[in-house]
Amino acid sequence: MGSNPTLSVRRGVAQFGRALALGARCRRFKSCRPDLDYIILQQLIMQIFLDTADINEIRKRWDTGIITGVTTNPTLVRKVGGNYRDLAIAIIEEFPEIESLSLELNGQTKEDFMRDMGEFACIGHPSVTLKVPCTVEGLKFVTHCADNGVPTNVTLCFSAAQAVMAGLSGATYISPFVGRMNDNSMSGVELVRAISGLYRQHGVATKVLAASLRDAHHVSRCLLYGADIVTLPPSTFDKMYNSVLTREGLEIFNNDFKEMPSQ
Ligand code: E4P
Repeated sequence: MGSNPTLSVRRGVAQFGRALALGARCRRFKSCRPDLDYIILQQLIMQIFLDTADINEIRKRWDTGIITGVTTNPTLVRKVGGNYRDLAIAIIEEFPEIESLSLELNGQTKEDFMRDMGEFACIGHPSVTLKVPCTVEGLKFVTHCADNGVPTNVTLCFSAAQAVMAGLSGATYISPFVGRMNDNSMSGVELVRAISGLYRQHGVATKVLAASLRDAHHVSRCLLYGADIVTLPPSTFDKMYNSVLTREGLEIFNNDFKEMPSQ
């Protein structure tokens, strides 16, 4: 994607940044699993992406050091307003070590997607991940991208059958929509379990990126059932660490600090 020398340098810097970030994550995990080597850790470490097009929301949470990617969709971009490509550039410039930034393509056919990919491909950053729906035209596009080393995210996945097709097309990520399954009286986490088991059994490299996650319980279930990554709206990210018991306990501890004689 792109042959501009400045962009190539930027890409090299970003790749180096990503390697450093991965090294840091592995080192953190190695402290609790010293028996595992880095290669295995790379496969095992669960990842969190943020599901938002609001750069302020990313900014507020990025320094936790636990977010490695961002997913967006047209609804999220419309909510914040502005141009999709400018937003992508702003995110990459501010967070150059980002591992994956999913950007949804506009169109119905492979040709539409090929046309629209130019908008984002020319950004020339390795995190740019092209998001297309699980349709026959989407799959044709994904196969083309896989043949050319371009990362893709197959979105709007609601069945294991769709995940099979995405895996065989060489998608980088498959996005089962957990919350929307639940909204329609189907189990989203069971879908994640089925896809993860199926990919593992057949050695499919496509990563399971559980999406449409609105509560912390479903997030941990998805990871337990084999999702590689969970993409969380900022509100769900906050629900993950928030606990009323932590808040109450903290209030007691803070009062006790106040009552202590000063040193
Ligand atoms: C992620 O890729 C999706 O765009 C997102 O998670 C959809 O979430 P929603 O079902 O809450 O809109």
